[in-house]
Amino acid sequence: MIYADSAATSLHKPPQVAQAVYDAVLHLGNSGRGGNSPSLDSARTIFSCRQKLSRLFEGEGPEQVVFSSNATESLNIALKGLFQPGDHILTTELEHNSVLRPLYELEHQGVLLTILPCRNHGTLDPADGAAALRPNTKALVCTHASNVTGNVNPLSALGDFCHTHGLLFLVDAAQTAGIFPLSMRRDQIHVLAFTGHKSLLGPQGIGGLCLKKGLSIRPLKTGGTGVHSFQRSHPDSLPTALEAGTLNAPGIAGLSAGLDYLFETGMDLLRAREQALLRAFYERVAPLPGITLYGDFSGWDRAPILSLNVRDLPSSLVADQLQERFGIAVRAGAHCAPLVHRRFGTVEQGMVRFSFSWGNTLEEVEAIADALQTLLED
Ligand code: ALA
Repeated sequence: MIYADSAATSLHKPPQVAQAVYDAVLHLGNSGRGGNSPSLDSARTIFSCRQKLSRLFEGEGPEQVVFSSNATESLNIALKGLFQPGDHILTTELEHNSVLRPLYELEHQGVLLTILPCRNHGTLDPADGAAALRPNTKALVCTHASNVTGNVNPLSALGDFCHTHGLLFLVDAAQTAGIFPLSMRRDQIHVLAFTGHKSLLGPQGIGGLCLKKGLSIRPLKTGGTGVHSFQRSHPDSLPTALEAGTLNAPGIAGLSAGLDYLFETGMDLLRAREQALLRAFYERVAPLPGITLYGDFSGWDRAPILSLNVRDLPSSLVADQLQERFGIAVRAGAHCAPLVHRRFGTVEQGMVRFSFSWGNTLEEVEAIADALQTLLED
């Protein structure tokens, strides 16, 4: 099997990730719930993972890292906890439903929403943000890279824009955490939402938020925390303020091992490898008659994602053929980013998405391009 669906979840994990999950299942107790050794080991594992994430994202310390189950839960925590009726929020057509659906829900409750359009090939025009500002504009919520096109948004410029206009800057880093350098400090990010199971190389079911100090976020969930048990209200200091119930210690242990791998290997090296694979793939498929590509390929500082269609064939049919005849795993259809599909006119057809990771090889990329060529010749 050739796995080219890493934007959905990475399947090539360093072996130490699975080992860490296995060891955690057998040995870690419940963090913060006692002074016994397994409980303390769990607390140490979790704290150390918070430290690594804060370092990776150039955040403001381990206590500013909150764990959740995935980027979607993280975005729900931030969006539903920060805003109230009457607030105006800017977002973009590039967003995933993990941003759009919570925002639509808030819109029903009286939050005002402006969705900034994307331009040619799915890029944003900063002038649109300035034109949309109102006196009650509170935030810009933006993905770092589109999960459909792989195009990367200019975080530093967007952070400057937010800073200039006194907006909170919320970044969905689901597709870039672990592969692009992210700096909350440099890019003036208030809220960074990540998932553990993509380029951070952890298992599914673990994600989180890295938060700037001083934000006031109402918790999405309240409950047991292991501290202040006689207090009727949920504790208000981070990270506990936004975590309730037993944490996913095996997931956190696996994520921590994935982070170690990233620090040891170097993200720049991994990213260069993935981008080289993407470029080789693009160079093979772009000239093929009958292939339509989506996104901006004028530069190569992009996520290792390429979405295309083969003539007017349904994308699901192409994906099935790739799987059944050539053993190639991709994602087809709509990619939970409905406005991107509207913009590109692919609501019906969907798109066939190829996404690579450090575990793919040039030979695999060539084999995928050969398979597409064969489908075109059929
Ligand atoms: N958000 C993930 C994707 O793009 C699941 O496939």
